[in-house]
Amino acid sequence: MSKQPIGIFDSGVGGTSIFKEIVDLLPNEDCIYLADSINAPYGNKPADKIVELSIKNTELLLELGCKLIVVACNTATTNAISYLRSHYDVPFIGIEPAIKPAALNTKTKTIGVLATKGTLSSHLFHKTSDLYASGIKVIEQVGEGIVPLIESGKLNSDEMKNLLNSYLEPMIQENIDYLVLGCTHYPYLIPMLKTMLPKEVTIIDSGLAVAKQTKAILEKHHILNQANSTSAIKLYTNGNLEVLNTLLDHQFDTAYLDF
Ligand code: DGL
Repeated sequence: MSKQPIGIFDSGVGGTSIFKEIVDLLPNEDCIYLADSINAPYGNKPADKIVELSIKNTELLLELGCKLIVVACNTATTNAISYLRSHYDVPFIGIEPAIKPAALNTKTKTIGVLATKGTLSSHLFHKTSDLYASGIKVIEQVGEGIVPLIESGKLNSDEMKNLLNSYLEPMIQENIDYLVLGCTHYPYLIPMLKTMLPKEVTIIDSGLAVAKQTKAILEKHHILNQANSTSAIKLYTNGNLEVLNTLLDHQFDTAYLDF
C-alpha cells in the first residue's frame, strides 16, 4: 500500500501550487495529478455539480491505484469533501481558506479573503469564519474571472492586473493587513499581488500546510513510502497541456487525457 501513488486533483492547473509543495516535502512518494481544466472554473457551478465532478476525479484516481487523495481545490473541498470522505475508504486531505492565522494575527482587525463564489458561499467556509473570525471584519471578495485567465495562459496579463486591482482596492481602503488566498490558482499571482498591495499586508497561502498535513496523515495510516527509490510523477490534463507545462518549473511527465 505505501508504494501506491498519492492522487491530487483540482478544477485545473491551480492545484499544481499544492502539488509542488507535496513533491518537495515528500520526495519518495509517487504522485498522480489531475487537472480537470475542461470543467474549470468550478467556482461558479452549483454545489451538486461540484460534488459530481469531484466524484469523477476521485474515481479515476482510485482506478489508477491511489492510496490517498489530496483535493487541491478550495471549491471542491468546501463543497464535496464530506461527501467524498463518507463514500470512499481512502484518506482525503482538503484545503480551505486559512482564515484562522489571519484572524489571530491581524492588528487592524480587518482581513481580506479572495476566493471563488463556490467557496465563499459554502457552509464549511461560513462555519470556519464564524469559529475563528468573530469580532474581525472579514472582507470576502469573489475572484470572478481570475481562474479562466490563468487557465487560458494569461497569468501575467494587463487584463489580470486590472481585475486584481478592482478586487484589492476596496480591501486596501478598509485597511486590511492580511490577505488570505482561498483558491489554489492564486499563489501564482503572488508576485503581481506584492506589487499592488501595501507592504504591511501579509499574504497567506496554505500550500505548505497542506503538504505537511498530507505527510502527517500518511504517517498516521502507516502508508508513507519509505523506499529510497526515485519517485514516479505523472500529471494529466483534459485541457491545454502547454498551460500546465508553463506553470511547472521542473520537467515533469505530463500528458493529455480525456476524463
Ligand atoms: N483551484 C480552485 C480552488 O481552489 C479553483 C476553483 C475554480 O475552478 O473556480 O478553488
